[in-house]
Amino acid sequence: MAEEKNDRIQAEAGPTLDRREMFVRLGLGSLGVAAVGTTAFAYQFLSPNVLFEPSPVVNMGRPESYGQDSVTLDVDTRIFVVRGAEGFFALNAVCTHLGCLTAWKPEIDTIACPCHGSKFTREGVKKEGPAPKPLPWLRMWLSEDGELMVDRSNEIRPLQFVRV
Ligand code: FES
Repeated sequence: MAEEKNDRIQAEAGPTLDRREMFVRLGLGSLGVAAVGTTAFAYQFLSPNVLFEPSPVVNMGRPESYGQDSVTLDVDTRIFVVRGAEGFFALNAVCTHLGCLTAWKPEIDTIACPCHGSKFTREGVKKEGPAPKPLPWLRMWLSEDGELMVDRSNEIRPLQFVRV
């Protein structure tokens, strides 16, 4: 009677796992987890360990978008585009002291660093402050489409103007 009752309870509870089947499934699950981990590790190991940096060459736009006798800071690229009587040139706007971003102060005709007070002429020449070097000139040229291009990785000797 009790045995018949147990069978009925088991039939109502649905199929059950026996011990052997449970261990087989557990083992297969563990192998699956190990396989996924190994595949992820192998993919990471075989992927090239390359740092993708943006191109150092930037498009600074059309020459006519800069006013005569202007000094324009592009905060994103950290470049000054200077338009003077001799033509265009580009300066690295990062202070040569400790790397702060400098700013153009038209009221005193000076590029000034807000961190420790270095000051530069619009040609990048140091006027005062702790900066050890002038602001570097960057290679600039006109593209075939007539746009001003600057290579941030290419410092040049001063006074090489782009005439438009
Ligand atoms: S970082 Fe510019 S003066 Fe120190």
